[in-house]
Amino acid sequence: MITHTEGESNTSEARAEWAARHPDAVTRELLERDAGAFLHQSLSSPCLSTIAKAEGIWIEDTSGRRYMDFHGNSVHHIGYGHPRVVAAIKAQLDALSFSPRRFTNEVSVELAETLGALAPGDLGKVLFTTGGSDANEVALRIARAATGRFKTISFWDAFHGAGFGASSVGGEATFRSHIAGPLLPGAEHVAPFNCYRCAYGHAGPDTCGLACAKMVEYVLEREGDVAAVIAEPMRAVPVVPPPGFWKVVREACNRHGALLIMDEIPTGLGKTGAMFAFEHDGVIPDIVTLGKALGGGILPIAAVVARRDLDICGDFAIGHYTHEKNPVTARAALETLAVIRDEGLVDRAAKLGAYALDRLREAVGDHPLVGDIRGRGLMFGVEIVEDRKSRAPGRATAERIYYRCLEAGLSFKISAGCVLTLSPPLTIPKDDLDRALGIVTTAIRSETA
Ligand SMILES: Cc1ncc(COP(=O)(O)O)c(C=O)c1O
Repeated sequence: MITHTEGESNTSEARAEWAARHPDAVTRELLERDAGAFLHQSLSSPCLSTIAKAEGIWIEDTSGRRYMDFHGNSVHHIGYGHPRVVAAIKAQLDALSFSPRRFTNEVSVELAETLGALAPGDLGKVLFTTGGSDANEVALRIARAATGRFKTISFWDAFHGAGFGASSVGGEATFRSHIAGPLLPGAEHVAPFNCYRCAYGHAGPDTCGLACAKMVEYVLEREGDVAAVIAEPMRAVPVVPPPGFWKVVREACNRHGALLIMDEIPTGLGKTGAMFAFEHDGVIPDIVTLGKALGGGILPIAAVVARRDLDICGDFAIGHYTHEKNPVTARAALETLAVIRDEGLVDRAAKLGAYALDRLREAVGDHPLVGDIRGRGLMFGVEIVEDRKSRAPGRATAERIYYRCLEAGLSFKISAGCVLTLSPPLTIPKDDLDRALGIVTTAIRSETA
């Protein structure tokens, strides 16, 4: 039975101390009302703090404390409240605010065409959903229809959404607890790629020769009837795939008749320094899912983009969502894509991300409690360990560092219990990035082994 959660704790000592130092009445009262009104669950209610404003890279709480947001639930590629997206949404509200499903509309069609043109290869047929979990479930249904099979292979520790189908292929303890009950049959899991030797291209006798990719092929072969491999091209922890990993898996899928579905819900649209993270690895999936930042950090919209020849479910329902062709969410997405293009944000993410990794490595790369510094584009992280030899997760240290950063005005997330996960908007001014990196490195340096 799995009941624990990975990541920040709702109840840790560091969190209690932080809360005790911020006793302002307005914040407390709202937190108490939140805790009274909402169903409790890990990692949200009861909440850490309150928010009154979100603008650009900044969030501001109800007592006026401002934080650079290096988490943003991965929605804020273009920052919060981008003026172009806000204006486009307002105009769309006046022009056409809803579209019942049997009718189509100009803006939704334009968005589907734009995404189809943006995606490489033959990825050209689109369906919209309200959230990423649903998009992944649509992708799974298409894979079942295309292959006549129902099994899947995915990674332990991955997250693909909260729905029963999405959490069946997910591998996160939080969503696989005993209260989830039986999940989808045939959802096989393998260990995720996590070999830092391979990831940095080390060669030599101590490398594993892509054993992680070969395990995917092994299971594909042994099962013999897998419909799809579904995975994030880069793990959100963040862990970059070892060079060649996806090529091996792509070829294995082809050999064993399985589709490759890539969940680019957090990584897509430029975050990693490429429009799609899979482009770094020289592969093209059969289906890609997008979401989060697609709505410009304002509205919820996700998308499934499939190979044209996978348009085979015409006689079935695979995702009849009420807001499937909502012109307002579609407008937000279209304008977001235009902002990403016009502001050159994909290249910007690549350049600033490389710069940030260099700076972190220079500043704390040899700190005894830093196990690894890694990432791609503006999705990078610092793994805190108890010591560099054992690489045992430095959970308590990571939490102390986290609250010290929060105190200094920088918000982010801890992944896998000990990885300071830094994912700023692609629009972040360089001096703000420098300031944030300074906060993180000072907080790390104040810890001694
Ligand atoms: C990789 C990945 N897939 C899917 C989802 C689910 O998206 P949503 O919360 O919009 O359902 C998330 C959300 O965090 C995610 O990170």
